[in-house]
Amino acid sequence: MNGNIVVGQSGGPTAVINSSLAGVVSKARELGVSKIYGMHHGIEGFLKDDLIDMSKYIKDDSDIEILKRTPSAFLGSCRYKLPKIEGNEEVYDKIFEILEKHDIECLFYIGGNDSMDTIKMLSDYAKLKNKPQRFMGVPKTIDNDLPITDHCPGYASAVKYIATSLKEVIRDNESFGAEKPTVTIVEIMGRNAGWLTAGAALAKGDDCHGCDLIYLPEKPFDMDDFMARVKKLSVEKHSVVIAVSEGIKVADGRYVCEIDAANVRIDAFGHKQMGGTASYLAQKVADATGLKTRAIELSTLQRAGTHLASLTDINEAFSVGYLACQAANDGKTGEMITIDVKSRNPYEVGYSIHDIHDIANVERPVPAEWISEDGTGIEEGYIQYARPLILGQLEPLYVNGLPKHLVLTDEDDAN
Ligand code: F6P
Repeated sequence: MNGNIVVGQSGGPTAVINSSLAGVVSKARELGVSKIYGMHHGIEGFLKDDLIDMSKYIKDDSDIEILKRTPSAFLGSCRYKLPKIEGNEEVYDKIFEILEKHDIECLFYIGGNDSMDTIKMLSDYAKLKNKPQRFMGVPKTIDNDLPITDHCPGYASAVKYIATSLKEVIRDNESFGAEKPTVTIVEIMGRNAGWLTAGAALAKGDDCHGCDLIYLPEKPFDMDDFMARVKKLSVEKHSVVIAVSEGIKVADGRYVCEIDAANVRIDAFGHKQMGGTASYLAQKVADATGLKTRAIELSTLQRAGTHLASLTDINEAFSVGYLACQAANDGKTGEMITIDVKSRNPYEVGYSIHDIHDIANVERPVPAEWISEDGTGIEEGYIQYARPLILGQLEPLYVNGLPKHLVLTDEDDAN
């Protein structure tokens, strides 16, 4: 590669998104790329020519090691969708002007299905205008809903956090032998795909009873059936723990979290901002039964918990970044790195590249055969799929008793 590179992070962060950044930077350093730029807040920042010189932060392997252990998007993220090319050529011309100004030969974007649209649009525009720059997608999303790839970096670490938290919550919930049980409802992210909530099923084992009910957005949520099940369980047990996806919907298509919400916010990708499903259901149960209830929203914690990240996930996140840079160096463009699982037991993966047009904007749901018939549990097929992904851990580097992170310190970058 003769020119420079730029890498951006987009969409919701994950516990390992910086490991992918570390992968891109490591390969670029190996290739002797002279300038490695980061986009400050994704393509939105890039459009303002807001770039970070990575050499200020990554000087040696020890910086790479801290970056791999740093949660959230080191470069800053954004939720910004490029407009359609027709009628908006000035936006694209601006991007290519900035690419040319900094002699950037390859652009890497670490993100989910909406973010892969950026790679699709930029590679399409380059083809249309005969531009030489290359564009590669690096998969990332806790939602695990990108098609083609077996799973997405970020997912396994969020699942490890979710299943660990559920084991802890279930133990706590069981600790009082009260006459009346406590009903705890735990809300898990994932918007329209139930992959993350399915991860709650991993809590069950020799030392944990697991969740009593698990609800994914892939099946319509029946409020009457839910209330009847909770009442029955509360007679049979002194502890009831239920996992719900933030995106569960009733039969008429409304999200449970919007049934009572006066205002539902919409983000820049056009998605409704979720949250409040567990609170809504816990209140309903309390009103109908008089039982003690708790609502727990795992919210940001489940995607920011790098201290509990899966080593398998960290390594795969690094590899997809590293291989994207290698593929761009080999002349590839308009593609994304995918993870192919060759064997689940023993676990063995390989990597491929795939046309971005089959990936951008496509949401892959949890397969129907992995959701129980009555829509309240998870089948063994999922457990076999997910179990190897959460294996291993990487010890944080502790300073003053807390994990150390890499941060943007330069005054120009930090604001
Ligand atoms: O797309 C990843 C994700 O974490 C979803 O699971 C969740 O619905 C959404 O982002 C939350 O978005 P925000 O960070 O804007 O609250």
